[in-house]
Amino acid sequence: MKLNFITLFIIMFIFLSPNNDAYAVDLLLGKEKAATVCSACHGIDGQAASGGNSPLIPNITAQQKDYLIAKLKDYKSGKINHPQMSLIAQMLSDEDIENVSEWYSSITVEIKLPE
Ligand code: HEC
Repeated sequence: MKLNFITLFIIMFIFLSPNNDAYAVDLLLGKEKAATVCSACHGIDGQAASGGNSPLIPNITAQQKDYLIAKLKDYKSGKINHPQMSLIAQMLSDEDIENVSEWYSSITVEIKLPE
């Protein structure tokens, strides 16, 4: 019986813990990439104004992860062409795209309709 508990614990550890770690690592790497590459224009929080740049740069805060991945891959492949974003996306590996999308999509916002 005791052995069963230990075995169960080990199985849980193997299956649960690496996933959580992987998520945390993705988020951390995404934050690093956002800080070094994206924040100059989009801000570390995805709000373009905080980067002190022009209103032509879109906010990407709390955007859906899949949407961010799709857009970045489209810039990278040339499906969407933009003088700045296409160059930047070409510098990103698929893993970078995944991580940075994890970061910006994990930021939460509160939505309030005007009264
Ligand atoms: C030099 C400034 C600059 C940097 C640095 C930059 N971007 Fe952009 N980004 C832009 C501009 C400008 C656009 C709008 C492009 C367009 O109109 O197609 C844009 C568009 C985007 C979009 C599409 C948004 C949408 O809804 O269509 C995403 C996603 C995005 N950027 C993510 C990133 C990420 C992630 C990084 C860092 C790896 C990054 N950008 C770095 C300027 C920048």
